[in-house]
Amino acid sequence: MAGTILLTGGAGYIGSHTYVALKEAGYDVLILDNFGNAKHSVVGRLEQITGAPVTAVEGDVRDRSLLNQIFTEHQIDAVVHFAALKSVGESVEMPLRYLENNLGGLMVLLAAMEQAGCRRLVFSSSATVYGIPDETPTPETAPRRAMNPYGKSKIMSEEVLEELAAADPAWAFGVLRYFNPAGAHHSGLLGEDPRDVPSNLMPFVAKVALGELPLVKVFGSDYDTPDGTGVRDYIHVDDLARGHVLSLSALLAGKGGHLVNLGTGRGYSVLEIIAAYSAACGSDVPHQIVDRRPGDVPIYCARTERAEALLGFRTEKSLDEMCRSSWAWVTSQAAEPA
Ligand code: NAD
Ligand code: UFG
Repeated sequence: MAGTILLTGGAGYIGSHTYVALKEAGYDVLILDNFGNAKHSVVGRLEQITGAPVTAVEGDVRDRSLLNQIFTEHQIDAVVHFAALKSVGESVEMPLRYLENNLGGLMVLLAAMEQAGCRRLVFSSSATVYGIPDETPTPETAPRRAMNPYGKSKIMSEEVLEELAAADPAWAFGVLRYFNPAGAHHSGLLGEDPRDVPSNLMPFVAKVALGELPLVKVFGSDYDTPDGTGVRDYIHVDDLARGHVLSLSALLAGKGGHLVNLGTGRGYSVLEIIAAYSAACGSDVPHQIVDRRPGDVPIYCARTERAEALLGFRTEKSLDEMCRSSWAWVTSQAAEPA
């Protein structure tokens, strides 16, 4: 059963991949993005991949009158809400900006949805809500611990959704806690395109492999992990996108809400990522061990049983596919005229 979906933040990294997955699943999709962290060229690329015109509204999710207009002009069946700011470091420097955009944006969106009678929403949460987990792999039942304003904005957003669902069973939310998204679309047309020097590992490794940055700084080699470097559960962005389609179809089929981890259940260390990327790009990526990065967690790894039981979600793509697709994407970008 398809329908019409509003995709906030649909021009961003995960949103653009999800756009393609939703179109492939037969949905009509409308993008709302302020292009604060996305290039306008993404829209043309989505048209190239899907072979159909893309409806993208340039605007802010905090603009209530714009949202009212969208819900009046379109019969929206559900919303997938990606629009948020996502830099942990920046959130520490600008907490108000993060709370205002991430939590404030969600509140405005929910109010507009309620007015329009649209009560199905898939929400982008994050493994960051677990803080430093007591248990790895980490189940969804683990306590939520805020480590920074970004993480707090995700915890508070989850709490808002829980309050609404408890007060009115007509609401149904799919809360998806992503582990570490990586990789790019197999077409080479979509991928992560950070405006500044990337702070996340894989895009940083990609820039070093391209020769745009001298070496990867490995933040700490004295963690209690097999090789001493930080371990993360990297999930291919195409798998993540598919998770959204499954979440949405569960909501639209009237199965009620769900809160699930989206990860592979398998962790890789920083050194393993560098080795896998070196194999994918065909040359050794230079690196150097430096001090730990303040605030870093030793290990993040997802328990995956709930997503499989509730949504039938299982990841399909390997670390090698994440590295190879990332490399194809960054080399295609580097070849383009500026
Ligand atoms: P992204 O920055 O690539 O995409 C977010 C998009 O939202 C951008 O296109 C941006 O222009 C847009 N946007 C931001 N604020 C907006 C606003 N107020 N109004 C309209 N548009 C707005 O980020 P992403 O990696 O695709 O992340 C998508 C979601 O997933 C975010 O909610 C993020 O917090 C969450 N998440 C990301 C990661 C990750 O590592 N990438 C991990 C866990 C959770
Ligand atoms: N790392 C390095 N060098 C770098 C960058 C990262 O050694 O230049 C290490 C980190 O110390 C960590 C691992 O690589 O051990 C992954 O770091 P990332 O910055 O790529 O990812 P994080 O797990 O720290 O954070 C990301 C997102 C958060 C999200 C979290 C969920 O940035 O928003 O994943 O797992 F909440």
